[in-house]
Amino acid sequence: MATPTLLKKEEAGSADSPYITVTFRIRRFNPEVSDQAEWQDFQIEIDPKERVLDGLHKIKWNLDGTLTFRRSCAHGICGSDAMRINGKNRLACKTLIKDINPEKPITVEAIKGLTVMKDLVVDMEPFFQAYRDVMPFLVTKGNEPTRERLQSAEDRERFDDTTKCILCAACTSSCPVFWNDGQYFGPAAIVNAHRFIFDSRDEAGEQRLEILNDKDGVWRCRTTFNCTDACPRGIEVTKAIQEVKRALITRRF
Ligand code: FES
Repeated sequence: MATPTLLKKEEAGSADSPYITVTFRIRRFNPEVSDQAEWQDFQIEIDPKERVLDGLHKIKWNLDGTLTFRRSCAHGICGSDAMRINGKNRLACKTLIKDINPEKPITVEAIKGLTVMKDLVVDMEPFFQAYRDVMPFLVTKGNEPTRERLQSAEDRERFDDTTKCILCAACTSSCPVFWNDGQYFGPAAIVNAHRFIFDSRDEAGEQRLEILNDKDGVWRCRTTFNCTDACPRGIEVTKAIQEVKRALITRRF
């Protein structure tokens, strides 16, 4: 089959044109058509300063409207467009074409470890269930205070890093333990447990630690650092997991 192509030939490659011709190699899957995924190439013109998400939009809007992927904010906030780009988990909206060697075909596929529903869209439910299981909300006892719950700057700093999570699943779906066993809570759930375990205002730290003491909990982590490398927010994910393990041993947090 001919490669679908979107080229403005008078501009691409001319001396003053910012556009270059790039091949997107996308792993397509449509369960209504076939039970096998297959790679499909698309050629487009794109400014190297544009992002992979812009390339996917050009393809969807001009070449093949059936191409299916999630995106919302387009600015690295909502976490909906995590995908494997050239074999690495990244947000399409934060990945510039010029940063991923556009000389070669750019491979784009769904994140691993979660069931692919169509093209780049996976079933996120097991991921969000693990997130819900660690109680990602502030738990307090006693009467409501008459004013805000005070916290020192040092106490706030203790969990600042893990507040940055946008639940994109880039970390969890880059974890080899999660690939082999989807029952594992995974890095993102542990990061979100960390955010509350180390919050001085919270009173359910022990409960969250017990949840993560489970056979599918924090001890499954093999410290491969894939999660830290994959996080688009720069969270020190492996460090957070180690801190939760340490809290489980010492019961100090
Ligand atoms: S579209 Fe929202 S994070 Fe990329």
